[in-house]
Amino acid sequence: MVKGDLDPTNWDEFRTTAHRMLDASITKMENADQGRVWTPLPQDLRDQFSRDLPRTGSNPEQVMNDIMPYGAGNTHPRFWGWVHGAGAPSGVLADIIAAAMNVNAGGRDHIAPVVERQVVRWCADIMGFGDDASGLVVSGTSLATIIALKVARDKALPTVRGGGIGDARLVGYTSKQTHTCVKRAFDMLGLGSDALRMISCNDAFEMDLDDLRAQIAADRADGLQPFCVIGTAGAVNMGAIDDLDGIADIAKRENLWFHVDGAFGATARVGHLVRDQLAGVSRADSLAFDFHKWLQTNYESGIVLIKDESAHRHSFADRPEYLRGTERGLAGGAFWAVDYGPELSRGFRALKVWAHLVEHGIDKLGASIDRNIETARYLQARIAREPKLESLAPVPLNINCFRYVTNDVNMDAINEEIVIQLQESGVAVPSTTRLNGQLAIRVNITNHRTQNSDMDLLVDEVLRLGEMLSVAAA
Ligand SMILES: Cc1ncc(COP(=O)(O)O)c(C=O)c1O
Repeated sequence: MVKGDLDPTNWDEFRTTAHRMLDASITKMENADQGRVWTPLPQDLRDQFSRDLPRTGSNPEQVMNDIMPYGAGNTHPRFWGWVHGAGAPSGVLADIIAAAMNVNAGGRDHIAPVVERQVVRWCADIMGFGDDASGLVVSGTSLATIIALKVARDKALPTVRGGGIGDARLVGYTSKQTHTCVKRAFDMLGLGSDALRMISCNDAFEMDLDDLRAQIAADRADGLQPFCVIGTAGAVNMGAIDDLDGIADIAKRENLWFHVDGAFGATARVGHLVRDQLAGVSRADSLAFDFHKWLQTNYESGIVLIKDESAHRHSFADRPEYLRGTERGLAGGAFWAVDYGPELSRGFRALKVWAHLVEHGIDKLGASIDRNIETARYLQARIAREPKLESLAPVPLNINCFRYVTNDVNMDAINEEIVIQLQESGVAVPSTTRLNGQLAIRVNITNHRTQNSDMDLLVDEVLRLGEMLSVAAA
């Protein structure tokens, strides 16, 4: 009999409640394709979360049931906003086990570091990083990028961990289409976001390598210290894949650290359709990508991989006496996550990733990614057939950017309104972006539940709303 202050006084009652809540969760997951995509929060639900701090306990079950319809909607097959994964029911089970174990995966000799290393090994294998690569399962690509670029910075500036940046004038390079997490990493690493040179892109939104070479030469001539280049495997706006081999060649010649942001795109290596374009991923010094996007594990889970394990460890390892490892006992264990990243206390994220890979196998996950790419191509073909729609970017991967064409001077506002009405009606959730100055309806398909028929429904609705709004504006 457990006697902790916070343990249930009646375990049978707890078990019954837990089963009821699990049932409600399974019903929600089973009906992921039903009903509205996104539902705005009703005021009375918001009010539940502006109350005074409770001094005594009460049962939160009802409120937890009530909140379930009010997520962003990314479990629904018609959610295509930003880059959200749809998740999978099996992840819930792994999270239950992880919560019940309540391990701290920062270090020590227990099962969590062993599972995490297995996941890292598998990912290094998938990405062609070799047996000696190190890595860490993290919250997502944003954190993975900070870790990778810190290793790159520390390698370029061996005294930086103790002495700080000082007068060093490190500069790095990436394309104008790179995700903002790279700029944020430069800011957080004390390099300054201006030290990140935004290289121009070609018509396919891929990094212009002539511009890259010219910028590196200009910076060297100015006495700056180029130290890294960041390529993108799947740009957030339209899925462009940089010429990774070309960047790798330049990085090698210029002695730069080569990092790849592969948040969603790199995972298409497990499919067949674009595997060849992603071959250059394996030449990177470091790679960041997410499981919670195109691999469909539940939030949150991403990974950083670093080819040079010793550079990775040297960038973070610094354990004081109270964290000293021992040969035997619980303080043993060869892999302490705290030696490879900023967090000491951390949850057992690796379990849901491991369980997901084991349950589905990498071939099925690859087929699911390929199916999304086929669906994006299907949508592109439909857009090409519709005189009132205009494609605004090529579709190298899984993202379509297009717009409804009107004679109205305010075409951007009409397209923005189309997207908002699609969201508010609960029919679909695309998002928007701007390409070459034009507002685009952006449909990102990282959703294993999406079917081609959903694309037809989307196009029909865009045409209907576009016509209605154009008439109203006339
Ligand atoms: C290309 C790219 N890089 C980085 C990120 C950031 O990833 P996360 O949200 O997992 O931190 C995203 C998110 O959409 C992305 O699309």
